[in-house]
Amino acid sequence: MKLSVIGAGYVGLTTAACLAQIGHDVFCSESDVEKLSKLQSGVMPLFEPHLEDVIEGVRKVGRLHFGSTEDAIVWGDAIFICVGTPPLANGDADLSAIEGVARVIAKRAIGYRLIIEKSTVPVQTGAQLRKHLSVHSTKGLKYDVASNPEFLREGTSVEDFLHPDRIVIGADSQRAADLLREIYEPIVQQKFTCPIHPNCPKHKDPIFLATDTNSAELIKHASNSFLAMKISFINMVANLCEQVGADVTEVAYGMGLDPRIGPSFLNPGIGFGGFCFPKDVQAFIRIAEKSGCDFSLLKEVEKINQRRVEHFVEQVRKELWVLRGKKIAVWGLAFKPNTDDVRFAPALSIIRLLQAEGALIRAYDPEAMEKAKKEIPDVTYCHDAYEAAEGTDAVLLLTEWEQFRKVDWSRLATLVERPLIIDGRNALSREDVVSNGFHYLGVGGISAAPQMAKSLVSTSHSH
Ligand code: UDX
Repeated sequence: MKLSVIGAGYVGLTTAACLAQIGHDVFCSESDVEKLSKLQSGVMPLFEPHLEDVIEGVRKVGRLHFGSTEDAIVWGDAIFICVGTPPLANGDADLSAIEGVARVIAKRAIGYRLIIEKSTVPVQTGAQLRKHLSVHSTKGLKYDVASNPEFLREGTSVEDFLHPDRIVIGADSQRAADLLREIYEPIVQQKFTCPIHPNCPKHKDPIFLATDTNSAELIKHASNSFLAMKISFINMVANLCEQVGADVTEVAYGMGLDPRIGPSFLNPGIGFGGFCFPKDVQAFIRIAEKSGCDFSLLKEVEKINQRRVEHFVEQVRKELWVLRGKKIAVWGLAFKPNTDDVRFAPALSIIRLLQAEGALIRAYDPEAMEKAKKEIPDVTYCHDAYEAAEGTDAVLLLTEWEQFRKVDWSRLATLVERPLIIDGRNALSREDVVSNGFHYLGVGGISAAPQMAKSLVSTSHSH
């Protein structure tokens, strides 16, 4: 089918590339001319595992084209709107880019179009879109508006798109629902050439959930807010563990054994970041407020998350006493591993707080340093984890990149001023760290000193 994708951010680019991968003829537009020319010349504007290869592959066979919004609107039978909906100062989602696209569709499109919201939008945006199109469409445009929220995570977006747990659509006409089913059929059947796994293991067929537009829109905000709530919950439990001498890893493991709770998203740490959870929780609170519902639970989720950064810095202060002039290594800047994204990254907030007290930061991240430099220029950016640790009073792990787990601790011990690891993600093996003479401080009551190395019991379910 000829499909158009408006917006080439994480969601738009992944959607365009993967829809072409499963066989559709896709036109993807980007209003940022610099980004568009990069894409047209095969340069990736962001780091996302597998995405560059997928794009290269489908462009080679002529199934993916990049161009202007106007051209995209003329091109496809169905148009996926994947533009940004950043937060406004009051927490509402900024829908001006969506309205802008709707205006062009109303002016340019002729005949039938299925217009699909894929950006994260507040409930009832579909109804607004329909109204807007009926007011502004001039040339007898026939259309349906549907919702198709995206659940992909940065760092695994291609895998999440092609092997999802569920595909949610919200459509108020059978025609729209049938078209969306047809578009996603190869993924529902898991029948396509997988660009990630050469011998793609059998994946569970995703559930295709067809519901009404309002419910589909709410599923997105509710899902992200629930996951954020799970993280804030375990972070509060971590604080309690620190006070009562329990081990949060054990507690989370014990909780997660109950399938009603499940093990995922129970990793305590320095808080959730990224361009989704913080803004989606805020937007959901606002949506509820406007409908007369006080979602105080989510306000607490937000407060708990905001306090994580300060709580972590307090741990550093307790260990280093006066921070002024102390050299501190920071491992990880991205809001999570396998992405170069530093938007709302807790690591950056922690660095700013430490710098405010006069600490000198030496930082390393495998992918995110270029983007971090634009946010916090006055940091010493290093070539690797070892260079960052040279002469430091403490090493802080703030993003759990796999490579930090494979560090040569005995080599590191020769580089640091003080052998102290403060692990903001409980990502490292306590045993490995302390058996090389380091003091280890984790989140949620997990700490160990070199002299404890022999007595440490490695529990099967820790890292
Ligand atoms: C999220 C949702 O997972 C995804 O479904 C949606 O489409 C977009 O938003 P993403 O923002 O890419 O995806 O990251 P995710 O992997 O969900 O992590 C979000 C934040 O929570 C990160 O900062 C991560 O470090 C943190 N996190 C995650 C925890 O602190 N603990 C956990 O157990 C899991």
